[in-house]
Amino acid sequence: MGFLNTFASTLAAAAFVSAQHDAGAKLDKPTLHDNLDYLKQGIIDNLPETNFNYELQAAGTIPDDCNKVATGQVYNTVNYNPADFDIFNVHYDDCGDPWVFCHHKQSPITIDSMARQFGKLPVQMRQWIRHVVDVPSDGGWAFEFDGTVTFLDPKDDMMPVIVHETGHSLDLSGAYADKPMSSSDRWWDNYNQDSNVPDTYASTNAIEDVAQNTVVAVFNENYPGGFGAIEPDYEKISHQYYTLISEAIDAGQGNNLFKPGQSAQCTHRMAPTDPVPVGGSKKRSMRERRGAAPVVGLSKNVTEIVTKRDGAKKRSDCSLRW
Ligand SMILES: *[C@@H]1O[C@H](CO)[C@@H](O)[C@H](O)[C@H]1NC(C)=O
Repeated sequence: MGFLNTFASTLAAAAFVSAQHDAGAKLDKPTLHDNLDYLKQGIIDNLPETNFNYELQAAGTIPDDCNKVATGQVYNTVNYNPADFDIFNVHYDDCGDPWVFCHHKQSPITIDSMARQFGKLPVQMRQWIRHVVDVPSDGGWAFEFDGTVTFLDPKDDMMPVIVHETGHSLDLSGAYADKPMSSSDRWWDNYNQDSNVPDTYASTNAIEDVAQNTVVAVFNENYPGGFGAIEPDYEKISHQYYTLISEAIDAGQGNNLFKPGQSAQCTHRMAPTDPVPVGGSKKRSMRERRGAAPVVGLSKNVTEIVTKRDGAKKRSDCSLRW
């Protein structure tokens, strides 16, 4: 009896251990390339734009999560005055509910460029993003926080970065059957069958590996001939990106999250965070007071995506640089 008990609890402990994967640990497989720049043009050329229009919100408020990003509550090195943001409601043709963008007035790219690039994401990926933030900065980098993506020193041609950051939300906010993908048995079993990871940034840890493989997967699903057409060594990472494609097909409800045009309209959305007053804002002139009302919540036309991420898990700790 004592023996059996011990044996059973040893098994349980072993099973428990095997289900634990350290998604934050450095990966030691060799890299295929230094970076994924060679996929950039193929992604840009093969993802169609989505028509959009936008309206500027009246000054005086900013969505709560944009405020958190701006005021250093996500990364304390990132600090901006919330009053320096223009808040836009961006309406895409494939979704009745707008996305709320927080666009710094001194950003090096226009709101049109930011909205145009974001609109190239297939809608079933795009709907896993809550807010889009872009700000001026000395160095180009990006991060994701509970579905909100922030681009520092953004560029007019940064589709792989946008796909990468969206890949974090798909993984960590729970778009796939295996949640989060980066710490699931399925991911690690497949990762173990490959000899390489895609690039240097992917070797940071499993979370970044999933995000970089999302870039490879989106390339594969949209470029004529797929990833193998330009990468002779594609088999060295194929278990990784095919796992994502397989889950993207399962999660797509008959479509594929990574392909545009297969889902005419958004079906799910992450709700925008509620507007908070811009601290220390002065009395507004009549001109400034004009503008669209802040967006609160979602319409009944979409199902709300409720994430279970809390505390430290809200930040993916990504700091992809370019
Ligand atoms: C929701 O759907 C109704 C009916 O199709 C439509 O009239 C309305 O404009 C939609 N609202 C949004 C925000 O998409």
